[in-house]
Amino acid sequence: MMNLAIFASGTGSNFDAIMTAIEDGKLEANVSLLVSDRIDAGVIEKAQRRQIDTVVFNPKSFANKEAFEKALLKDCKDRGVEWIILAGYMRLIGSTLLMAYEHRILNIHPSLLPAFPGKDAIGQAYDKQVKLTGVTVHYVDDGMDTGPIIDQEAVRIHEQDTKDDIKQKIQAVEHELYPRVIQSLTIKEESR
Ligand code: GAR
Repeated sequence: MMNLAIFASGTGSNFDAIMTAIEDGKLEANVSLLVSDRIDAGVIEKAQRRQIDTVVFNPKSFANKEAFEKALLKDCKDRGVEWIILAGYMRLIGSTLLMAYEHRILNIHPSLLPAFPGKDAIGQAYDKQVKLTGVTVHYVDDGMDTGPIIDQEAVRIHEQDTKDDIKQKIQAVEHELYPRVIQSLTIKEESR
């Protein structure tokens, strides 16, 4: 069974979706750690409610990225974490974690990459008035949302959709797609 750490900076609806998929037996994995870089992130309470070990750090209290990633690496290794799942973690991953978890860090992004990388992908799609956007799950490399794509799903934007409508549709897709992709990687790993 895959042992996961989830990194998140936001409300944690994807964290919840992954946990629910595990509880429902749709995802054979174990989450042994939640990492957040924001003390006020809603995901922290969600993790504590589920009694998941939680590490909250303030990047500003470290000398640099290498210093906080070394601390996070220890937190992960101490718990035998095999995969790092970014779920709304709004920070680039540095070489410390990338080297330790080569091809074992996943990200979910709310657009059909390579369109609309970076922050506020939903707002970018809305402003450009595209008719089709979606969700991408990809391996993480040292770029901004540039790693090899694993899976994507499209979401249609209708004329009358507000930004909030689009967000709701995107998140509904995310909550199905992310656990499914993680499960498919589990199966691949076990058949090796
Ligand atoms: C998700 O929509 C995720 O795709 C996005 O942040 C949101 C987090 O929501 N990630 C990015 O934009 C990464 N570039 P959540 O906290 O409710 O899971």
